[in-house]
Amino acid sequence: MVLSKSLVSLLFPVLALLLQTARASPRPRASLSTATLKLTLGINSVETNNTTVAARARARVLLQRSGSSSINATNYVGVYHSADVGVGDPPTYYTLLVDTGSSNTWIGASKSYEKTNTSKDTGGQFEITYGIPPEESTVYGEEYLDTVTLNSDLVITNQSIGVAQDGSTSGLPSSFDGIFGLGPVDLTEGVVNNAYQVPTVMNNLYAQKTINSEVLGMFFSPASSDDTTGELTFGGYDASKITGDINYVSITSTYPASTSWGIDQSISYGNTTILSKTTGIVDSGTPFIPIASDAFTLYQSATGGTIDEATGMLTISSDQYDKLSSLYFNIGGVSYELTPNAQIWPRSLNTDIGGSADAIYLIVTDIGSDSGSGLDFVNGHCFLERFYSVFDTTNSQVGFATTEYTDATTN
Ligand SMILES: *[C@@H]1O[C@H](CO)[C@@H](O)[C@H](O)[C@H]1NC(C)=O
Ligand SMILES: *[C@@H]1O[C@H](CO)[C@@H](O)[C@H](O)[C@H]1NC(C)=O
Ligand SMILES: *[C@@H]1O[C@H](CO)[C@@H](O)[C@H](O)[C@H]1NC(C)=O
Ligand SMILES: *[C@@H]1O[C@H](CO)[C@@H](O)[C@H](O)[C@H]1NC(C)=O
Ligand SMILES: *[C@@H]1O[C@H](CO)[C@@H](O)[C@H](O)[C@H]1NC(C)=O
Ligand SMILES: *[C@@H]1O[C@H](CO)[C@@H](O)[C@H](O)[C@H]1NC(C)=O
Repeated sequence: MVLSKSLVSLLFPVLALLLQTARASPRPRASLSTATLKLTLGINSVETNNTTVAARARARVLLQRSGSSSINATNYVGVYHSADVGVGDPPTYYTLLVDTGSSNTWIGASKSYEKTNTSKDTGGQFEITYGIPPEESTVYGEEYLDTVTLNSDLVITNQSIGVAQDGSTSGLPSSFDGIFGLGPVDLTEGVVNNAYQVPTVMNNLYAQKTINSEVLGMFFSPASSDDTTGELTFGGYDASKITGDINYVSITSTYPASTSWGIDQSISYGNTTILSKTTGIVDSGTPFIPIASDAFTLYQSATGGTIDEATGMLTISSDQYDKLSSLYFNIGGVSYELTPNAQIWPRSLNTDIGGSADAIYLIVTDIGSDSGSGLDFVNGHCFLERFYSVFDTTNSQVGFATTEYTDATTN
């Protein structure tokens, strides 16, 4: 909490956060097949030292069932996408962190809530604790119902949103006004004191018949590519962003990952299995790819990486990089290949994570507990930069597809 504001430096120019509609009906509130919301990439630089400690805390939170993923200041080191989300009528736009690892949407961290005549105080209070001691942070405040606008065509009425009380969000970098929760409704349980659960933005888009199926498509381009934007597609996926079929896998039945976008997968480094089929989550709000400690140890010895004191991440020499094998994520019988280049942090951004400009850092990190915990990996932002993802509540499944960036060598 102490660290918050100074942590952030947006490396990339803040692009005009364009809200564009693709393939959508021009009439507001019509029943759409799909509509697209543009996202903007931000790099949150490190001020303190340990990047992996942060990623680990974020992953562990699910085990504690305390809400969702961790949001201590250091947890924000890395890459994130944000969306401009309008609240009220006329809408005020807030820059919210796109998070499939939590499900409540809240505002007010940097920009104050502008009430309009659509604003209705529910009388309830929300409180979400992200992270684990001593790295946990809590955001709390009043829960409102209001109109939420995702772009000119996606208007949701009566959306439950949190409005953070001043000073309750010091862990969140100042470039964000709050969180856009895109996880399953289960993760809202117990967050608002006078409600068992609160319907998510996706729930309401579907219930209000703004979209025909409760499906979210997500596209992130790599932080190191020329196109640093991303997009969310509501009600389907954007076929123009994928280069193959979407392969789906059912949401896992293993608790606690089953309450989030949990899936089963195994991971191999080259021909060697480093993590047998087990359970984890897909989380756009986790920057790297944390895996269970025993798998991490195998990965470390296979790559020859050593822990870098400054960043807490694995570092390898250029000779070791030349010998790096691909990492294969086997999900629902389909193998997703993370190339050597996809396994390293963009070298142009090394100093942002507290590293040296000429070093090579691996983006696979240690989750902090051995496999078998029910949360043995997090396919975070670095994974989602290489594979298009589809979050399908209607059919309880998650899908992935290759993109033009799957094999990019821009890192
Ligand atoms: C709410 O405010 C808007 C904008 O000021 C106005 O157009 C609208 O008529 C108001 N609605 C009601 C129900 O007062
Ligand atoms: C996270 O925030 C807490 C305060 O809530 C602070 O004590 C702790 O040092 C922070 N963690 C890190 C890694 O900075
Ligand atoms: C508005 O949403 C709340 C829960 O978020 C629900 O309890 C209430 O019934 C809804 N009201 C209408 C008019 O849909
Ligand atoms: C992996 O296995 C394949 C087929 O068994 C073999 O051709 C290849 O040489 C192996 N690669 C490595 C790095 O061991
Ligand atoms: C960062 O984390 C790594 C891995 O846990 C640890 O080995 C290293 O000592 C830490 N560095 C600092 C400065 O705390
Ligand atoms: C990381 O921490 C170590 C030990 O505390 C310190 O010597 C080093 O300068 C720090 N690195 C950065 C980038 O802050």
